[in-house]
Amino acid sequence: MSQELRFDGRVAIVTGAGNGLGRQHALLLASRGAKVVVNDLGGGRHGDGKSSAAADAVVEEIRAAGGEAVANYDSVENGAAIVQTALDAFGTVDIVINNAGILRDVSFQKMTQDDWDLVYRVHLKGSMSVSHAAWPIMREKGYGRIIMTTSAAGIYGNFGQANYCAAKLGILGLAHCLAEEGRSKNILVNTIAPLAASRLTETILPPEMLALLKPEYVSPLVAWLCHEDCEDTKGLFEVGAGYIGKLRWERTQGHSFNTSRAMTMDEIAGKWSKITDFTDSEHPSTTNESFGTILANLNKKSLGGNEFIDLDAASKDQ
Ligand code: NAI
Repeated sequence: MSQELRFDGRVAIVTGAGNGLGRQHALLLASRGAKVVVNDLGGGRHGDGKSSAAADAVVEEIRAAGGEAVANYDSVENGAAIVQTALDAFGTVDIVINNAGILRDVSFQKMTQDDWDLVYRVHLKGSMSVSHAAWPIMREKGYGRIIMTTSAAGIYGNFGQANYCAAKLGILGLAHCLAEEGRSKNILVNTIAPLAASRLTETILPPEMLALLKPEYVSPLVAWLCHEDCEDTKGLFEVGAGYIGKLRWERTQGHSFNTSRAMTMDEIAGKWSKITDFTDSEHPSTTNESFGTILANLNKKSLGGNEFIDLDAASKDQ
């Protein structure tokens, strides 16, 4: 059997590591040799209050098992302070796991500005803030692994979670951009959409299901994506209950109208079934791939286009 994958010499920040998934990510990384900053504000599931108890308990658990960890109690909105804890204790940062989260579920009609702002600040701004503070360190050393935590609610939409859905899909957009910006510096950025029993799901899922949905079934994927042997970036994975799958965008073949004039809405209606037919679909993974197909229309003489436009140059300008 091959040797187990380890994180000796690596420094990891896990946000929201006082409970649920983050706690399990921190325990696993520490058990494999990583030095871990256990960040947790220690508030309630709706973002109320704060306490050092949650982070302290996980740090104690790691140390009792022979691992290395320090606590940090700042909100993820203050990423610089969290990264500073890593620098003070361990001198660097190699891994950032953006995991901290809260819920303020309410129908859009009843949602207050505060419900929107707090969820946005913890999830999207928090993921940006911690990553942004770690970014120059990772660039300088030519190594970094960043994990973002989105949600099926963000990807597919869910009733009563407009704030959460928007923030969670914003996190995916952030991840996609950082993956492109980090690629040349060996900073790899992947995103998970987990399902696990935690205080965030205890009111949504039945108890018999919760008993089986262990965070332990999510953390090994996170750890693998954080490992130096894993070369994937810009990935999005659904994970939980022993299942792991990868997602990507899908686009229909679509229909190309004549480009010598704008199409009419009646022409669109006439071609609607073709525009929305996913037979032989495409899977663009970059903006260049996306624009390439669209701009190719301009070069098709049969569509009234102009054959000498330099498409490579045009798409690179975007
Ligand atoms: P949890 O409530 O058990 O853990 C979240 C932790 O984040 C808590 O310990 C909390 O104190 C901490 N936290 C909250 N606001 C913070 C802030 N401003 N700064 C620092 N720490 C803060 O929840 P769970 O389920 O473990 O969630 C972890 C992540 O996974 C969240 O981002 C959540 O949205 C996401 N997620 C979880 C799912 C699940 O099935 N449990 C499903 C989809 C997404």
